[in-house]
Amino acid sequence: MSVILGIESSCDETGIAVVKNGREVLANELASQIDVHKVFGGVVPEIASRQHTKIISQLVAQVLDSIDEPIDAIAATQGPGLMGSLMVGLSFAKALAYSWKLPFVPVHHIEGHLFSAFLGEKAPEFPFLSLVVSGGHTQIIQCHAPHNYEILGTTRDDAVGESFDKVARLLDLPYPGGPSIQKASATGNPTAFDFPRAMRQKGNLEFSYSGLKTAVLYAMQAGEVKVEDVAASFQAAAIDILLIKIKQAIQQTGATQLVIAGGVAANQLLRDRATTELDVEVFLPPFKYCIDNGAMIAAAGHSRFEHGLIGDFGTTPNPGLPLQAS
Ligand code: KG4
Ligand code: ZN
Repeated sequence: MSVILGIESSCDETGIAVVKNGREVLANELASQIDVHKVFGGVVPEIASRQHTKIISQLVAQVLDSIDEPIDAIAATQGPGLMGSLMVGLSFAKALAYSWKLPFVPVHHIEGHLFSAFLGEKAPEFPFLSLVVSGGHTQIIQCHAPHNYEILGTTRDDAVGESFDKVARLLDLPYPGGPSIQKASATGNPTAFDFPRAMRQKGNLEFSYSGLKTAVLYAMQAGEVKVEDVAASFQAAAIDILLIKIKQAIQQTGATQLVIAGGVAANQLLRDRATTELDVEVFLPPFKYCIDNGAMIAAAGHSRFEHGLIGDFGTTPNPGLPLQAS
């Protein structure tokens, strides 16, 4: 029975939450910076860290004021992410843990996304297969046991969320690209363009999304197009690639449970196709825990805390932190 304060600040969301036993969210606050970065068409790192600095004390106070239970440990994202942004959340967490004499638990951002699956109504049981799809990652990960992971496939170039963001920019749709492409796709024809499904060969669990983005660019340059049709055809191809690869991974591993996590797990087409086409039990985090948030960091921090994986105050942010078995 432990209560963990989770702090996420790796990119453009300040997420603060308190989670009990890794499953029950007692408080959850998220300050999104979308409006600030929108005008630039993407995240500006220096602005992101300044925004975190501005809001973090107030947000932590708000979350702590709303709960009655004492905190057992403080978890924060150590990496990967933007250096300045990570620095704000991690330093804040360490300072708070030091002054309250509480354990400090550094968390890998992707491990946080994996543990967001435990915040839904039903939770997976280790071992399980996972697909992590975000703005920075596209990975198929075999989750052998808590904190023991094996990356089976990853992207050679752009991440799938990144390709949504870049294609949205080509189509003059607002940042972030994922939700705006999903919205535009609703009135478009997904078969209007036959965009490529790269690296579909059997046995290969690698991804590549840069060719898809280039194909969209060429389609735009070829003449008058309906934005909704391009968006729908792009979305169909981007999600199709994920399904092709995850079906191969299920076959290869014999997995019976699949967790899909990360910002792109909020995509309705992916959610619908994953729940109807796959021959495994699929665990999708609730929408609000797909994009970056503090609750997923608290959930992962809870497991680390329970396994005695406590950090020390010498822990520093690491923008390229690898996801390794520990
Ligand atoms: O996990 P996340 O919040 O941040 C990272 O760790 O990167 O993921 C953000 C990404 C963005 O690229 C965004 O465009 C994408 O998730 N995203 C979506 C949707 N909602 C967010 N992509 C497709 N469909 C969506 N509905
Ligand atoms: Zn993320």
